[in-house]
Amino acid sequence: MNLNPLDDFDSIQPSTGNYFISTYPPFSTWSESQNHFVKPTVDSAPTEEPLGLYIHIPFCLKKCDFCYYLSVTGKSAEDQSRYVDTLLSEAEIYAQKTYLSGRKISFIYFGGGTPSLLKPNEIKRLGLGLKELFPTNSETEISFECSPKTVTDEKIDSLKSIGVTRVSMGVQSFDNEILLKNGRVHKVEDVLKAYEKIKNGSFKCMNIDLMAGMLTEKWESWNSTVQQAIKLQPDSITVYPTEHPANTKQYKDLSLENERVKPTSWIEKRDRVKHAFKQLEEQGYTVATAYSALKDPVKHQFKYQHHVWNGGDMLGLGLSSYSYLKGIHFQNSTSFTDYQEKVALGRQPIKRARSLLSSELLIREFILALKFGKISKLSFLNRFGIDVLKEFWNELLSLSQAGLVEIDDDEVHLTREGLLRADTIALLFYLPEHQEIRYS
Ligand SMILES: C[S@@+](CC[C@H](N)C(=O)[O-])C[C@H]1O[C@@H](n2cnc3c(N)ncnc32)[C@H](O)[C@@H]1O
Ligand code: SF4
Repeated sequence: MNLNPLDDFDSIQPSTGNYFISTYPPFSTWSESQNHFVKPTVDSAPTEEPLGLYIHIPFCLKKCDFCYYLSVTGKSAEDQSRYVDTLLSEAEIYAQKTYLSGRKISFIYFGGGTPSLLKPNEIKRLGLGLKELFPTNSETEISFECSPKTVTDEKIDSLKSIGVTRVSMGVQSFDNEILLKNGRVHKVEDVLKAYEKIKNGSFKCMNIDLMAGMLTEKWESWNSTVQQAIKLQPDSITVYPTEHPANTKQYKDLSLENERVKPTSWIEKRDRVKHAFKQLEEQGYTVATAYSALKDPVKHQFKYQHHVWNGGDMLGLGLSSYSYLKGIHFQNSTSFTDYQEKVALGRQPIKRARSLLSSELLIREFILALKFGKISKLSFLNRFGIDVLKEFWNELLSLSQAGLVEIDDDEVHLTREGLLRADTIALLFYLPEHQEIRYS
């Protein structure tokens, strides 16, 4: 694909649908027919390589209009407790596998949904239970996602008791009208109260998530959101351009012909993220990835991202979670009943899998590395025996001519314009059969 000038490149942006790429090849290429690859992988010889754990908590107070994550509302405390039981049983199944047992745990990430919706005693039971099965050490990062309305002092105590090191709160906007119009259940005052409580917990890193270009957001509102985020001085600020994937309420609303609200354009969303990054840099933050700025890039480095984006093994537990082990991807069942029944029978609750070809492994790691804005030739040579500058020369040259990357003898750097387009740039490196394919 020839990409020059920049306008040609920007014309391949999605208007609606998925933008954020979390892995490769796309989920739509994973299938049940490849599930047989999982057993020999988890039963293979032990390794010294560190392992990360992702734990999915699929419960929310209310479904936000823009959200594409698998989560449900209205589950009772008993349902949630049963889900924690299942998670622990699933962890037990894997903890006995030769390829996984006894490995150094580099991170445990509690994501969702809303993990902070769990009751304090369930958080404790889950966290301590997992640590018994997969012992952590003083270097393990333990991350926990919270939503503002669910944070209480008691929950902060429970997070401390399981050794959480990083708390991340979904703020999205500091404008009550925008929050309401996009189906968020919280208000700005809830954010401020929750922020104080989390701050009192003195965690190693505190992150807040913002979303640029939510429906009806104007530039002034976004600028004010960025300023208010800076005023709070979190250790880390993550900024996502708003997407409208097909499984969201907003996607359906926007598809209706008589819908008067128009989505913010990708050009505008990128401009808003760019503005946020500039403001954050002026206040001493360092832009660390395509989506995040950190107060201290060493102290607040996000281990989960470093591990996963550098090709590390990750075991995903819980409904719909996906894992990546030794070149095999697999995803758990997305049905509560199926997930719980399989685990109760002592079986791995797998829905679909994908064994990666060596060309796909290289592309996977290359496009994940793009998100850091820097690709080291040596690192790929060491891991794959391939000079990526030669392998992808045509694509890199086009990107360089479009002002999106700078290439020197040892490294490829994404310029700021390039970093703001990291996920679209990634599409250029896909194998031809994956170029036009559905993502999920
Ligand atoms: C699992 S949620 C975070 C925790 C908690 N559930 C909350 O929302 O406060 C992860 C993050 O994904 C981001 N997100 C969700 N849907 C999005 C979308 N359609 N476009 C961009 N970012 C999105 C939000 O910033 C959200 O904070
Ligand atoms: S953004 Fe967070 S709170 Fe909203 S539905 Fe998604 S996971 Fe739940």
